[in-house]
Amino acid sequence: PVVKDIFGLANLEEKIRKAYGLQKVVVIAGDCETSPLIKRELGRAGAKALLRVMQDGDVVAVTGGSTMAEVAEQLTPSANAVLKQSWFVPARGGLGESLEIQANTIASGMAKRLGAGYSLLHVPDLLGKEAYQSLVHDPNIHDIVGMIRKARIVVHGIGDAMEMARRRKMELPMVEDLQKDGALAESFGYYFDEEGVVVHKMLTLGLRLEDIMKTDIVIGIAGGKSKAKAIHAVLKFGHEGILVTDEAAAMEIVSEL
Ligand code: G3H
Repeated sequence: PVVKDIFGLANLEEKIRKAYGLQKVVVIAGDCETSPLIKRELGRAGAKALLRVMQDGDVVAVTGGSTMAEVAEQLTPSANAVLKQSWFVPARGGLGESLEIQANTIASGMAKRLGAGYSLLHVPDLLGKEAYQSLVHDPNIHDIVGMIRKARIVVHGIGDAMEMARRRKMELPMVEDLQKDGALAESFGYYFDEEGVVVHKMLTLGLRLEDIMKTDIVIGIAGGKSKAKAIHAVLKFGHEGILVTDEAAAMEIVSEL
């Protein structure tokens, strides 16, 4: 806390918390885009935030991404925490990321670190309408999707819309549509504009917007100056409880308030 006050981080946390009506904001020093060490710190802070709210028996849905992979890596249970009855699931099906940063990998990695259980969702990226319809009715998939939708905690990364469209190799006409619609952020397969309105969603199985609205605890973890607008857009959506970010993003967000 003393260090935080020297850097004025506590002040940034409070400004953001108030502006968006959040339950808790954690800001770590530095810019995670400029240093892998700071990205690790962001992961550590994210892991701590999750452990602080987790209770045994919880179902936790997690998204993919390099930040979430870092959170998984930094997840070490405190000696007295018993979380063996907890369960980790991926929030959505595959979203075209490399294996290391897919939600399935992160869910299983987190579960193993805590001695908890996990279920995976093995569906291909970007389903066509027909495939989607038949998979939704598959009994195995139906069970895991049911579990995902009743998660008490959702932990997710936040990406810049254009960056994520590129990473997911979205076709050009769709990228142009996104741009026209003012998409700034991508998170859990949804694209949000400046006002937090969903302008596009990807047809993948798993957590839907209405599930997120009903989730007890939603934890967003994202840092770096270039993500400030994206973080703002997701916070405007209005269903976040806890934000874990870095100084670079926080300064930029606060400068626009
Ligand atoms: O949806 C957002 C992305 O998964 C964030 O990915 O943490 O690698 O920037 P990242």
